[in-house]
Amino acid sequence: MRRLCEDIDGRRVALITDDTVVALHANRLAEKLAREGVPVTLRAFESGEENKSLRTAADLWDWLAGTELTRRDIVLGVGGGVVIDTVGWVASAYMRGLPYINVPTTLLAQVDAALGGKVAVDHSTAKNLIGSFHQPKAVVSNVGYLSTLDKRQLRAGLAEAIKKGIIASPDLFALIEQRHPAILSADVAATMTLVRAASAIKCRLVAKDPYEEDLRRPLNLGHTVGHAVETVTGYGPVLHGEAVAFGTACAARIAEARGLLDARTRQRITGLLATVGLPTTLDTLPARVDPARTVAALGQIRKIRDGRLRFVLPVGLGETVIADDVSDREIHAAVTHRGDGAHRQRTAA
Ligand code: GLY
Repeated sequence: MRRLCEDIDGRRVALITDDTVVALHANRLAEKLAREGVPVTLRAFESGEENKSLRTAADLWDWLAGTELTRRDIVLGVGGGVVIDTVGWVASAYMRGLPYINVPTTLLAQVDAALGGKVAVDHSTAKNLIGSFHQPKAVVSNVGYLSTLDKRQLRAGLAEAIKKGIIASPDLFALIEQRHPAILSADVAATMTLVRAASAIKCRLVAKDPYEEDLRRPLNLGHTVGHAVETVTGYGPVLHGEAVAFGTACAARIAEARGLLDARTRQRITGLLATVGLPTTLDTLPARVDPARTVAALGQIRKIRDGRLRFVLPVGLGETVIADDVSDREIHAAVTHRGDGAHRQRTAA
């Protein structure tokens, strides 16, 4: 609260959230801010990915136009990834760009979506098609909010943190190996350490490449196959973090098959994902996924991107390479891999 008030610095606040988070956290936060003397006005839009839309953005601009907000005031986004992405985009265009602060309430948003400045809404033809780069003035993560999340949501958030350990920090990876039971119980000390470490990695990578020209690319580990899985299942049955976990396991298998990653490290990667209960094989995904359709969906993406798919492949913990020559056959083999027996047992236990 103290930190948030410092960042607000006496300005007027337009707090935007959704109709789930409003009752859980946002109303209370608005009341606390008002008690601290911050002039705050609140708006909640309907929750759900289908509302991450231009229509919602236009409603919010109409609402903002009826408030007393000026260019020196602040927009506050309070919620998960949908709220964070939509509010950032609304703030980026209103009055040619208002400052905004993110208060992420899910683990996925705290370790990933709230940081980085890529803001957007979906279009009927593609996710995140209409957006811009607009860095938040601050990101204030309260891990106390995570206690209202169910385990599946926590696991999905953890996938993005494990990914950061693989691409940039063996220490973060080891921390998750040791502390995942406490993290999945939303333990305050464990989640605080995790969110701090994962946020620092994301900020470091984004600072090198704020407009995503190239150096940020390692953050896309797991997102190539993951994106195809979300596409063929129609965005919903497989959570983003679950798709990223499966995609990360596939990238590790491709790297191992190419002789880039040793078997022990590959097993550590897929082992940790499976141990925390994330999918690493087709039969552990929460929806039926046809491997041929998945490979075909990647073929479509390859066509759009000048005939090249840029795969991020792990070559060790904390190190990745980019490969743009991964064949359909390699992808198919990684996607249909049946996993290591020991991991399947661990997930079931
Ligand atoms: N807002 C997420 C990112 O910039 O990566």
